Amino acid sequence: MPLVTRDAAAIAAIEKLRFGPFAARSGNGRHLVADDGRRVIDFSASWGAASLGHGHPALVEAVGRAVATMPGASLLSLINEPAVALAEKLLSITPGGGDRRVWFGHSGSDANETVVRAVEAATGKRRVIAFVGAYHGGTALSMSVSGHTAQTHSPPRAGLFLLPYPDPYRPHFPGAVGEAALAQLDYLLATVCPPSDTAAVIVEAIQADGGLLVPPPGFLPALAERCRLHGILLVCDEVKVGLGRTGLLHAFQAESLTPDLISFGKGLGGGLPLSAVVGPAAILDHRTAFAMQTLCGNPVSCSAGRAVLDTIAAEGLVENAAARGLELANGLRRLADRHEAIGDIRGRGLAVGVELVENRESRAPAGSLCQAVVYRSWELGLLLFYVGARSNVLEITPALTITTAEIEEGLAVLDLALQDASSGRVDAAAVAAYAGW
Ligand SMILES: Cc1ncc(COP(=O)(O)O)c(C=O)c1O
Repeated sequence: MPLVTRDAAAIAAIEKLRFGPFAARSGNGRHLVADDGRRVIDFSASWGAASLGHGHPALVEAVGRAVATMPGASLLSLINEPAVALAEKLLSITPGGGDRRVWFGHSGSDANETVVRAVEAATGKRRVIAFVGAYHGGTALSMSVSGHTAQTHSPPRAGLFLLPYPDPYRPHFPGAVGEAALAQLDYLLATVCPPSDTAAVIVEAIQADGGLLVPPPGFLPALAERCRLHGILLVCDEVKVGLGRTGLLHAFQAESLTPDLISFGKGLGGGLPLSAVVGPAAILDHRTAFAMQTLCGNPVSCSAGRAVLDTIAAEGLVENAAARGLELANGLRRLADRHEAIGDIRGRGLAVGVELVENRESRAPAGSLCQAVVYRSWELGLLLFYVGARSNVLEITPALTITTAEIEEGLAVLDLALQDASSGRVDAAAVAAYAGW
């Protein structure tokens, strides 16, 4: 029986974000083998989590060795070397001064949840500022400090203030892009969100699920400066765009920021469940037994994290992301010459968004076309997904190990899929069966 049929009868719908009947049996490098045996080039890397690609020998070796010789399965009450070593490594590669610590979890969600709980408990302040469009997680608290349009089923928490994230392609307000958000921040801090009761601002250096939005230069430093002036902690969520993806080790380094706290996830584990928070000891040591889960800091996931970070350094994957990212952007620009539906191409390195529009003048979002392109791409041999407040931005976040030839392979399929979808050759009813987000 096909996996799609078995999945429908076995796996909970509340856990699915599906764009088509996409089912894979195995993976190798930057390719997947679909359930029907087709070879598919992977431009998503499971939303960036499979940072080294599928079956990288360094990860296979590290995880295999760790499983075979596990010094327990938990960091809570028994110290293990892989966790301590990974924490030391993260401290050494992450900018920041003073006495700092590392917290380990399983997902971007629990990392952001822990950040919010810890900063509030340690500072005694109850307000948090985040951004419209941000996806910080799917657990109760991480979700309640998010501003993503797919999460309106759950209300924001009391004490949360959301600012508009600057969108240079679709400015929400008159005037310079980014100024409105800063002006709104100033207004809030001067009125109903007093700095004396505001624990943190949480922001992504590129807002990923909001549509791969790259803020204008100067916006993030201006935000950081306001935080510094008001004694508010600046938290950077690097879960999707961090650890090499943007062609810099940290996405926030594009603007020379030094956040107070940083959350990592997805690519850190290379596909295994692993997240981390790096931040001041005054916050992360403020008391014991405060943010525990049994398997946090387990030696298998931490060994995977070490292998990922070592491989990023040994194989020059930050540089590869920068170089392949340029090729990807150039290739997408060539596609834009032929496809009117491509309204905007943006991002850094291998964190790239392609915004599809009905018309370049009106910039009307082409959500249905985007769904059809993603669906048709799979049929033709390319896996990618879409993001954005209007569900019209193709997200390209391949493994950091991707090659020039593989980028060309994926772009060739995308070219055909854009052609077929734009000329109505994709079965709309088949696409409509998948809700996406
Ligand atoms: C920026 C960002 N933060 C946090 C998360 C949540 O991570 P996870 O799904 O691993 O819990 C995501 C997931 O998409 C994300 O993109």
